Amino acid sequence: MPSATSSSGSFPPGFLWGSATAAYQIEGATAEDGRTPSIWDTFSHTPGRVENGDTGDVACDHYHRRADDVRLMADLNLNAYRFSVSWSRVQPTGRGPAVQRGLDFYRGLVDDLLAKGITPSLTLYHWDLPQELEDAGGWPERDTAYRFAEYAGIVAEALGDRVEMWTTFNEPWCSAFLGYGSGVHAPGRTDPVAALRAAHHLNLAHGLGTQALRSALPARARIGISLNPSVVRPLTPSAEDVDAARRIDALANRVFSGPLLHGGYPADLLADTAALTDWSFVESGDEALAHQRLDFLGINYYTPAVVSHTTEPDAPRTDGHGASAHSPWPGADAVAFHQPPGERTEMGWSVDPSGLYELLVRYGREAPGAALYVTENGAAYDDKPGADGTVHDPERIAYLHAHLDAVQRAVQVGADVRGYFLWSLLDNFEWAYGYGKRFGAVYVDFETQTRTPKSSARWYAEVAGTGALPG
Ligand code: NOJ
Repeated sequence: MPSATSSSGSFPPGFLWGSATAAYQIEGATAEDGRTPSIWDTFSHTPGRVENGDTGDVACDHYHRRADDVRLMADLNLNAYRFSVSWSRVQPTGRGPAVQRGLDFYRGLVDDLLAKGITPSLTLYHWDLPQELEDAGGWPERDTAYRFAEYAGIVAEALGDRVEMWTTFNEPWCSAFLGYGSGVHAPGRTDPVAALRAAHHLNLAHGLGTQALRSALPARARIGISLNPSVVRPLTPSAEDVDAARRIDALANRVFSGPLLHGGYPADLLADTAALTDWSFVESGDEALAHQRLDFLGINYYTPAVVSHTTEPDAPRTDGHGASAHSPWPGADAVAFHQPPGERTEMGWSVDPSGLYELLVRYGREAPGAALYVTENGAAYDDKPGADGTVHDPERIAYLHAHLDAVQRAVQVGADVRGYFLWSLLDNFEWAYGYGKRFGAVYVDFETQTRTPKSSARWYAEVAGTGALPG
């Protein structure tokens, strides 16, 4: 894989070698210590929403195995760990006072990490809105943004003395457009205007939440957001296909980077969606509020998208985010998605490390004051233990190697990349796909909760330990 375009340099000093997880995907213990249901509890318990009827009720049982999991990270030479806080574990109704036992879990986790020299990187929101807030309207409602800021302040007060790296949101695109547009994610609504409203309120919540964090955290704290920008490629150079790519770039990328990085929604996005909404839910001052100083920008990358203009009613209107009769792309009915040729992962996603290079270079330029982190990258494969119990996953090693090589090439042309978080530490609850898709560097037997590092985990440990890719 890394061949003609391979780089030979090393990674910058102080580079973070991490892995990433999310609360609902690993914790389990969904009804313990005062936690109340989030939208993902409700959704996963609704028949037909998640493959095989899987839920996060037990997941990797990380809530009870936290100390072992941290030891595992240390054994794998990781010097950083990205996790998320379950909002309904620390503030069950999504408003009002916090539950101390919930906060204690995260304080204990952070202390375990710090004791092993592992930098904690905390994400406040990885898709699990307290159900009560959804019942009150969810992200399409403005009040949810204010509730988020309150929650951000609570977590900052509790953990600000020991966590320096704070992320407001993980992949707000998925929350807005898969949650309220195509409905393949919780809460499963299929209303394109609700999806656009949700996107705006997530941007607003990022701004309000950042302000709440800055006022509660010490000056050394660094605050950012993790986006999943699409690398959108037109199928052909025709003007129509190029315009289809522009539309998806607006709906996937610039709907967030516009306000967050540049202080306003792009005019073409407003024009493309004008038949659906006049965007009057954007109040005066909102875009400026969303435009807070970002200390870092997290990039999550898996695969690029290839699009064309279409008039075919049956052409695929989504790109590997799950099957739905409803498009996640408001107003982009004339855009079709295509599967690029070549190698694919178990998700059906094509393997194309050049997309990661492109994103790091693009966002390095668009967010010149922000450090960049690859906050997620990885692949699902059909891993199975062999007769001797070991799990060999050479495809994942090749995937990681090629993408880390792309990171190194981006660094060489000036992108300020400071760390890489492999998705994921453990096989876990892969949202609407349930436990069938394994992204972990560590294999989890969900019957026994045994953890077995795959060969990719050993390979990554070597890279993390030496700070260099094998030649
Ligand atoms: C992005 C999400 O943040 C994470 O939760 C998910 O498991 C991975 N992508 C893989 O789909």
